[in-house]
Amino acid sequence: MDQVDKIKTPDFSHITSEDLNHIYEPSEDSFLLIDALEKDLAFIRKREPTVCLEVGTGSGVVITALGSVLGPRCQYMGTDINPRACSVTQETGRANGVNIACVCTDLVANVIDRVKGTIDVLLFNPPYVVTPSEEVGQGDLEYTWAGGVKGREVLDRLLPSVEALLSPKGLFYLLVLKENDPEEIASIMESRGFSCECLMRRRTGPENLMVLRFCRKGSQ
Ligand SMILES: C[S@@+](CC[C@H](N)C(=O)[O-])C[C@H]1O[C@@H](n2cnc3c(N)ncnc32)[C@H](O)[C@@H]1O
Repeated sequence: MDQVDKIKTPDFSHITSEDLNHIYEPSEDSFLLIDALEKDLAFIRKREPTVCLEVGTGSGVVITALGSVLGPRCQYMGTDINPRACSVTQETGRANGVNIACVCTDLVANVIDRVKGTIDVLLFNPPYVVTPSEEVGQGDLEYTWAGGVKGREVLDRLLPSVEALLSPKGLFYLLVLKENDPEEIASIMESRGFSCECLMRRRTGPENLMVLRFCRKGSQ
């Protein structure tokens, strides 16, 4: 496969309006995460990744975008709490020539034992909107955005698993909002042995979005 350094937006024309009543429509945050991966592609390639995992795949556009440039030497996995998102993710992969195994589970609950220490690229665009805690996990669409206190209630549950998931050269790309307190997230991860870099920021309407990249200290 020829190496390209631009990531094409995957074809997601197979996603129906009925699908979008249940799953997250690819949006500015999805595209910002793809743009950050494109910006970091040389850094990712240098690490010769062989296993990529996206938590909360939704439509599957982000993991598919990465798969379309890294090619079949990598294995692609995804998880989502919403079964419809898992099947749409697999379809999006198929429509763009990327084979994705997507598991319906809470964060990484049903996969962590199998993939411990093997993930070279971990991706998460979490439900990040600040909401009352009661709104978190109330239905398919609430799953996509409701983040509870500081928009962190779902994301904070993944952070303790990152160290166990990542391979020694593993990278973790996380989409956050200013209100999520990125400095605090960086300091939590710092205390677990990770360094943090903000790769990209974008203001879209009222949202101040950014993509953080974490890697083990000393592995840059
Ligand atoms: C903001 S959407 C992002 C979707 C997709 N990754 C994108 O960037 O377009 C968040 C996704 O996380 C999923 N999600 C929410 N809570 C989850 C949980 N506890 N475990 C797994 N997935 C979850 C939602 O169903 C939704 O697909």
